[in-house]
Amino acid sequence: MTQVPEQFYWGVATAAYQIEGAVTEDGRGESIWDRFCAVPGHILNNETGAVACDHYHRSQEDIQLMGELGVNAYRFSIAWPRILSTGTGQVNPRGLDFYDRLVDVLLAAGIEPFVTLYHWDLPQALQDRVGGWASRETADAFANYADVVSRRLGNRVRYWMTLNEPWVSTFMGHEIGNMAPGLRDPRLAWQVSHHLLLAHGLAVPILRANGRPDTRVGIVLNLSPVEAATPTEEDEQAARAVDGKLNRWFLDPLFRGSYPADMLASLGSLAPQTEEGDAAIIARPLDFLGANYYYRDIVHRQADGGIGMVRPKGAEYTDMNWEVYPPGLRKLLLHLQREYALPQLFVTENGAAFPDTISEDGQVHDPRRVHYLREHIREALSTIADGVPLAGYFVWSLMDNFEWARGYAPRFGLVYVDYPTQRRMLKDSGRWYRDMIAGRR
Ligand code: FCB
Repeated sequence: MTQVPEQFYWGVATAAYQIEGAVTEDGRGESIWDRFCAVPGHILNNETGAVACDHYHRSQEDIQLMGELGVNAYRFSIAWPRILSTGTGQVNPRGLDFYDRLVDVLLAAGIEPFVTLYHWDLPQALQDRVGGWASRETADAFANYADVVSRRLGNRVRYWMTLNEPWVSTFMGHEIGNMAPGLRDPRLAWQVSHHLLLAHGLAVPILRANGRPDTRVGIVLNLSPVEAATPTEEDEQAARAVDGKLNRWFLDPLFRGSYPADMLASLGSLAPQTEEGDAAIIARPLDFLGANYYYRDIVHRQADGGIGMVRPKGAEYTDMNWEVYPPGLRKLLLHLQREYALPQLFVTENGAAFPDTISEDGQVHDPRRVHYLREHIREALSTIADGVPLAGYFVWSLMDNFEWARGYAPRFGLVYVDYPTQRRMLKDSGRWYRDMIAGRR
């Protein structure tokens, strides 16, 4: 099999709201996800992240689990409302203390922290006061938050990711409305995307200035290769439009310095308002890109002119109804390298939800996840020989957790969580990942 570079990060990933719980403890303020979950009907079974995996109280145990897995990297996010309960102003020292200890324990265990600053849990006060990401002020507030956090952790954390999946915050949060803050306003959504990117760009020099000389700053995007269902002009055009909104709308301003011209043309008056200098801020050079890959998109032009998604027959689907398509990861990484010549790439999320249960032998047997991971890792590693500067791979997720609008039903973990007791146990996939990592060391 493919040669793995000597210095390669094998990791697991999580996000604050999905695992921490303790949402009213130690001075944490309300986030837009707390508010969104409180509205009946937003989340399957009206579940919330109020307890989640109780990681806030069990972080030591969870780091021990990482030790059992033998990972050398852990990607987690910081909850902005723990640090600044209303988004700006007074810093909450107890919030900083939590992540400070987490980082120390990780480093002592030989695990490199990869810190995401924004994994969707905006302080609700910012939503109420200025309209959240609808306002440029939130980009400035984010820069201040990045400053506060990196002043405290920058002497130990080397890898920083500003945002997780701005496409999701933008469109699921403000156009489709199935994620916090749950708005349905297409015009607003495009403006939000710009403010998110601006926030990212504003934070980049701050993270560098507060960090060690070897600080590495990047961003995480959800990316999918987009294919036309048939090689007809209509379908090719539809694929280009979907690729434009999902991938290029974020990649181009970050790595080429401008929004894609075809998108701006088709958006017309829906295009976001920008100010002079924004493009340069957004395009500040990064050290790496984090790519989250779950599935490909196959697209066709419908008779009514709309765009539809094609679901290949006979394909395997996960509990999220996402097609299992490992070659898409290789295709994506090669494409990114060809089009954007990135200095370094990480697969910052990849994984699958399957209906796991505890068997009579007391174990969780999840052969489909083992297969999923093996095939995706194989595809990812195969790109290194083609010159892709892939430096690490993170499984989503360390453990089962709160899967946003779908609540606790989808289980993505290498570790099974029995929510009533909060007991954790390694699934077969966790053992497989452990052995794979050990074999490569
Ligand atoms: C990604 C999110 C992550 C998790 C996975 C399944 O879009 O970044 O938090 O929910 O999907």
